[in-house]
Amino acid sequence: MDSKTIVLAGGAGFMGQSLAKYFRKETDYEVIILSRQAHASQNGISYVEWDGKTVGKWQNALEGAEMLINLAGRTVNCRYNEENKRQILESRTESTQALGEAIQKCEKPPKLWINAASATIYRHAEDRAMDEETGEIGSGFSVNVCLEWEKAFNAIDTPHTRKVALRVAMILGKGGGVMTPFVRLARLGLAGTQGAGKQYVSWMHEYDFYRLTRFLEKHETLQGTFNASAPNPIPNKEFLKKLRQQVGVMVALPQPNWLVKFGAWLIGTEAELVLKSRRVIPTALQKLGFTFRYPHVDSAFKEILER
Ligand SMILES: NC(=O)c1ccc[n+]([C@@H]2O[C@H](COP(=O)([O-])OP(=O)(O)OC[C@H]3O[C@@H](n4cnc5c(N)ncnc54)[C@H](OP(=O)(O)O)[C@@H]3O)[C@@H](O)[C@H]2O)c1
Repeated sequence: MDSKTIVLAGGAGFMGQSLAKYFRKETDYEVIILSRQAHASQNGISYVEWDGKTVGKWQNALEGAEMLINLAGRTVNCRYNEENKRQILESRTESTQALGEAIQKCEKPPKLWINAASATIYRHAEDRAMDEETGEIGSGFSVNVCLEWEKAFNAIDTPHTRKVALRVAMILGKGGGVMTPFVRLARLGLAGTQGAGKQYVSWMHEYDFYRLTRFLEKHETLQGTFNASAPNPIPNKEFLKKLRQQVGVMVALPQPNWLVKFGAWLIGTEAELVLKSRRVIPTALQKLGFTFRYPHVDSAFKEILER
């Protein structure tokens, strides 16, 4: 029997490498990564080049796949000038549209298509948690990107491929993503409360994200939009305190709003990334019986730092 394949579009980045690692460790699936760059294939992970916006030969990689997960998108960790804003939006909508068209052309389309979306689609929320049913959509550039991204995904009709959009919270993992700069700051005594510290941080451990893709694969009737976040978001002040405890450096310089904004400007990014309150919970998944290996951030930090 041919082995099963999973295709990770935009999978050369942090989340794709994390998923590829777990899929290779815990399944016998072959992993195919769609990337705009050439990479050497190794350890059951092969790379296929695509441009992220038009259907091409790479479509063959989708034939007969168990699952396609789209993670493509220009990083949001940059200054939001007009050119970057355009790239942030188009890299998400165009890659989504191209994958949809490619699926429609497949003889044997993937069984499941998971598209990344973002938990930042909800409004700044300190007062109550946002879930799929009662959450309120926010406004502004980042929210518009999320809306257009989901709209592009929902507009594509793939009768033989189940579709799931995941509103992903901040993924905590080893060797990339936000943990790298956070741990560095903590070691330097610079991981003090950011802004008022009351803004919530929604997060999810990378292993739970992998487990979620397996859960969605196994539950063959599930489709639609889900929040991919741990059930216990916490305020920035507590989040950073717990991080400092795990890193073992309790000294911390607090960073008032102006300093966060100045620092963000200095390193070429946006203060919104840490000042917006993302209080997002995974009600729909929990109702369906999905459980978290790392429901609290202490255990997530501990596992990542001790690994
Ligand atoms: N990590 C998180 O905490 C988090 C939270 C919420 C949502 N998300 C979303 O989940 C997705 C994956 O996140 P990640 O952390 O893995 O991001 P990442 O490390 O930046 O990887 C994203 C990948 O997208 C591809 N890409 C970049 N610009 C592109 C463009 N213009 N056109 C097509 N592809 C492009 C790149 O692949 P190549 O250069 O190899 O083509 C890159 O490796 C992103 O869309 C992100 O917004 C992530």
